[in-house]
Amino acid sequence: MEIKKVGVVGAGTMGNGIAQVAAMAGCDVVMRDIKDEFVERGIGAIDKFLAKGVEKGKMEAAQKDAIMGRIKGTTELSDLADCDFVIEAVLEVMDLKQEVFGQLDKICRPEVILATNTSSMSITTIAAATQRPDKVVGMHFFNPVPLMKLCEIIRGHATSDETVAVTTKFAEGMGKLTVEVKKDVPGFIVNRILMPLFVEAAWLYETGVASMEDIDKAVKAGLNHPMGPFELMDFTGVDIGVNVINYFHEELNKELKWVMPHTMKDLVKAGKVGRKAGQGWFDYRKK
Ligand SMILES: NC(=O)c1ccc[n+]([C@@H]2O[C@H](COP(=O)([O-])OP(=O)(O)OC[C@H]3O[C@@H](n4cnc5c(N)ncnc54)[C@H](O)[C@@H]3O)[C@@H](O)[C@H]2O)c1
Repeated sequence: MEIKKVGVVGAGTMGNGIAQVAAMAGCDVVMRDIKDEFVERGIGAIDKFLAKGVEKGKMEAAQKDAIMGRIKGTTELSDLADCDFVIEAVLEVMDLKQEVFGQLDKICRPEVILATNTSSMSITTIAAATQRPDKVVGMHFFNPVPLMKLCEIIRGHATSDETVAVTTKFAEGMGKLTVEVKKDVPGFIVNRILMPLFVEAAWLYETGVASMEDIDKAVKAGLNHPMGPFELMDFTGVDIGVNVINYFHEELNKELKWVMPHTMKDLVKAGKVGRKAGQGWFDYRKK
């Protein structure tokens, strides 16, 4: 089946990025959020991103208009009823994801694939809210979606080979490099490797082994990473890191050999979670 119309649930950071890359690949897109202001904010973010592209001479104004013309915002989930493929990007809360998948299962045609952009949670558990677990798959994009190449394609226990093949082809059509995650494990590949990096960096800092600046410098120059762990945590949000680490502890139990650093917990308790200058680790850096 050709994918002409794509539904995106959630117009936040990831949802609007996914809507943008789908529209850039030539698909019609319906992006749903729960309030008009969230939908408008999502559409505004896409417009701003594309406008910068026009400004820098990366695309013509007419191309931008054509892309924007393919994206429709809505607060009605029922507007996704005629979509050929749906990607969910709501908050990282299992009950909410299951609720959304239960609703999508009722309104979408039975052959439609329902993908989730969860960063760490079980595809199998999300799929259990539907009558089509073979057509539920993880499609983990990275932030910012239009710039980050990777998309992890994750199998739940029941995800069919055909679903994986169609989803992979679709992601590649949006210009993404794909990897297949064959087992439904917490954190998949990238976050499973990234969280221990965050935790070890925080412990090294907390126990006085090195300054935050030197840890970032060491990882950049010694491992060739473009950002150090503290810079990256401030960019992606310390709160998200803490949620994912807590989820790993719940799900992986004794398999994990590391524990949550106090500094990370303290930043979240203080509401200083990054993503804005002057928040997150930046606070400690100033001391
Ligand atoms: N931010 C990242 O770096 C990143 C990277 C990869 C994956 N993810 C995952 O992507 C998902 C979304 O993350 P985000 O950073 O875009 O969050 P966000 O908070 O920016 O956006 C989530 C949006 O979902 C909306 N929403 C809530 N309930 C909804 C519903 N029932 N229907 C439609 N919309 C609803 C919210 O109003 C909000 O606008 C999460 O599962 C997250 O773990 C995030």
